[in-house]
Amino acid sequence: MRECHLSLLVCPECQATLALSQIESGDGDRVRSGTLTCVSCQAAFPIIDHIPRFVSSDNYARNFGLEWTRHARTQYDSHSGATVSEGRFFKETGWPRDLAGEHILEVGSGSGRFTEQAAKTGAMVVSFDFSFAVEANYASNGHKANVLIVQADLLKMPLRRGFFDKLYCFGVLQHTPDVRRSFLSLPPMLKPCGDLCVDVYSKKVWWVELLVKGRWIRPLTRHLPPHVLYALVNRYVRLMWPLATQINKLPLGMHINLALLVADYRGHFDLSEEMLKEWAILDTFDLLSAYYDQPQTVQTLQQWFEEAGLDDIRVHLGFNGIEGHGKAPQADR
Ligand SMILES: C[S@@+](CC[C@H](N)C(=O)[O-])C[C@H]1O[C@@H](n2cnc3c(N)ncnc32)[C@H](O)[C@@H]1O
Repeated sequence: MRECHLSLLVCPECQATLALSQIESGDGDRVRSGTLTCVSCQAAFPIIDHIPRFVSSDNYARNFGLEWTRHARTQYDSHSGATVSEGRFFKETGWPRDLAGEHILEVGSGSGRFTEQAAKTGAMVVSFDFSFAVEANYASNGHKANVLIVQADLLKMPLRRGFFDKLYCFGVLQHTPDVRRSFLSLPPMLKPCGDLCVDVYSKKVWWVELLVKGRWIRPLTRHLPPHVLYALVNRYVRLMWPLATQINKLPLGMHINLALLVADYRGHFDLSEEMLKEWAILDTFDLLSAYYDQPQTVQTLQQWFEEAGLDDIRVHLGFNGIEGHGKAPQADR
């Protein structure tokens, strides 16, 4: 982190100011390691490899730590040459391309492919994740002057409430233990009239969930050590690839491949064969490894937006399941 970003952080326990001490090594104004101490309750949090850590990496999201460090660049547009992440970020949020002067909060960054997009707007981007995926994000985006990357839990954010102009949270909520509670933790971070944009997987009919979403095998796979499951998925997808190539040519071939546990995006994304295989390994592992996977309905997400008291609510099916948009109420309400 940079010393000048300290004012963006607060104590996750009591919301008081944090003081930076014991800087063990510095690099310009970038702090490689040190300690953040709460001036009020004295809680202390380490900075390790440039990243303030408010949680340990040994938690239910450790599969994502492995996923996003093994595939640190796979879904980056700047790696694939495609515009998949850029297209999704701007289409889904509906935000302008120039947001200089604003503060954006990204909740659950994974490898940081959307951090890259948010940073391009010129806004100050604060991005965090529960897992050690933050290390992949730091490697790609941490050098940028307008990016602060933190490891934290969305239920205990070390960030100022009522402060952010915009907040997005893509593909995260269904992977938390209590999806409603996770959702409701987001709106308080926005300043009056601030924009919220989330997406969450949509619940399909039971047999689709069972066959195409791997529900029949997840009770086993989600308990496997991530590195063991990853090795199995890697070998399996590579072995199945020639067969999946033929199946993909059939009507509903993509869905048949998913039922066979190969996340095959041929015909969906315009990527090279090698990249499609990389995406298949990444997304098959994602499907089978997430400890929690709790898709929702449009009605439920709509209810949560209303419960949070947001204005201009729009909830609909979209790119990654269900998309929801809303605005924090004006200050005088
Ligand atoms: C499917 S990934 C999505 C990553 C990224 N948003 C993307 O779309 O590429 C879900 C991410 O949510 C993170 N996550 C899960 N629970 C979280 C929590 N309580 N607080 C913050 N992040 C969390 C995981 O670590 C994981 O990186």
